[in-house]
Amino acid sequence: MNFPIDKFQALRTPFYYYDTQLLDQTLDEAKRCLYADYHLHYAVKACTNPQVLRHIVAAGLGADCVSGGEIRACLDAGFPADKIVFAGVGKSDWEIELALMADIFCFNVESIPELEVINELAQRHGKVARVAFRINPNVGAHTHDNITTGLAENKFGIAWEQTQEVIERSRQMSHIECIGLHFHIGSQILDMDDFATLALRINELQEVLDTYGIRLPHINVGGGLGIDYQEPDEHPIPNFRDYFGTFHRYLRLRQGQQLHFELGRSLVAQCGSLITRVLYVKPTSLKRFVIVDAGMTDLIRPALYDAYHRIDNLSRQDGDEVYDVVGPICESSDVFVRDYHMPTTFRGDLLALRSAGAYGEIMASQYNCRALPVGHTDEELCRQ
Ligand code: LLP
Repeated sequence: MNFPIDKFQALRTPFYYYDTQLLDQTLDEAKRCLYADYHLHYAVKACTNPQVLRHIVAAGLGADCVSGGEIRACLDAGFPADKIVFAGVGKSDWEIELALMADIFCFNVESIPELEVINELAQRHGKVARVAFRINPNVGAHTHDNITTGLAENKFGIAWEQTQEVIERSRQMSHIECIGLHFHIGSQILDMDDFATLALRINELQEVLDTYGIRLPHINVGGGLGIDYQEPDEHPIPNFRDYFGTFHRYLRLRQGQQLHFELGRSLVAQCGSLITRVLYVKPTSLKRFVIVDAGMTDLIRPALYDAYHRIDNLSRQDGDEVYDVVGPICESSDVFVRDYHMPTTFRGDLLALRSAGAYGEIMASQYNCRALPVGHTDEELCRQ
C-alpha cells in the first residue's frame, strides 16, 4: 500500500488512515463474485467511519446492524431501510421501536421471549415485523475461541431442534411475518470447509422443514470470511470467489430463495491502518521497546485476542532490529507485538499498524482519558 507520508507529517497522531481506492476495489470484487439471488449486507460493527460508510452505500450494499446506534448511523449514511437487517442477542425496546418505525427489512431474532416483545411492540405501533430466526447450527469454526459463535455452548441463536417450533409459533403471532433463517458461525475464518459444513447443515435443516411444508424465502448465512493479517500487501483483497463459490456449490437453495451475507472484516480490514508516531526507543537489559503514541485504547485487538497486526515503519527501511512495540497505556497488556523485526527505529518515526480497518477505530475507548482516534482518508488528504 502507498501511504501519503508527506501528508501524514502534518497530522496529529495516532489516527486511522483509510485507503478508499482499495476499499472500492474490494467492494467491486465482492460484488463481481456474487451469484444471482445473492445479497450482500455490510456488517456495520466492523467500522462505522462515515467516509467508509459513504463508499459502502455508494456500492449499493445493505447493512447488518446490531444496535439502535448502528441503525441510526446507517440511516444517516443513506443505507435504504429496506436493506437493513437488525441482529443481536439483547435488543432493547427502544431499538426494536426504532427499527419498526424505520421499516427495516428484517429482524434476526434470537429467542422466543424476544419474538414476543417484537410482536407486542409491532402491534402497539400498527406494524408487522419481518423476522428471520437465528439458528445455532452447532458448527465449530477454525478461529479464535472468543469469536466463534455457532457452537451450541455459545449464547447466540435458537437451538437447532427448536426451529420448526419457533416458526410455527411465529405464525400464530398477528404482527410477525417469518421470512427466513439466519446463521453465523464466527469470524476470521479462512478454511472454506467451515462454510461448506454450514451449507450442508442448512441443507439438512431445509429437508426437515420440507417435511412440515415450511419453506421460507430468505436464508442468511452471516459473515466471517477472514483476511491475511500476515501479508496484507500480497493479499489486499480476500478470496471472495472461493467464499461465495463454496455456498454456490454446497448450499441447495429452493426455488426463488434469496441468499444473504453479512460480511464485515473482509470488506474493510485491509483498507485501514492505524498510524502512530514513535515517542521513545527504550533499551532494557532484556528488550528493546519501541514506545508509540497509539495504545490499546486505539486498537484493542492485540490485547484482547492476541491478534497480530503487521507493523511497517513508514519513515525508514534500513537496518534490522528486534523490538517490542508498546503503547503508553498503564496496562501490561498494552503491547502491539513482541520480538518483532523492524528497521532500526527512532523517535519521530511514523509506523503503520496494518489491516486495522475492521474492529479497529470502532472498538477504541477513552481509558486513561485519552481522545478517541480520528479517521482520515486518501481522498481527504490528497484534496489538500
Ligand atoms: N454477522 C453476525 C451475526 C456477527 O456476529 C458478525 C460478527 C458478523 C456478521 C460479521 O463478521 P465478519 O464478517 O466481520 O467476520 N471484534 C472481533 C470480531 C467480532 C465479530 C463479531 N461478529 C475482532 O476484532 O476480531
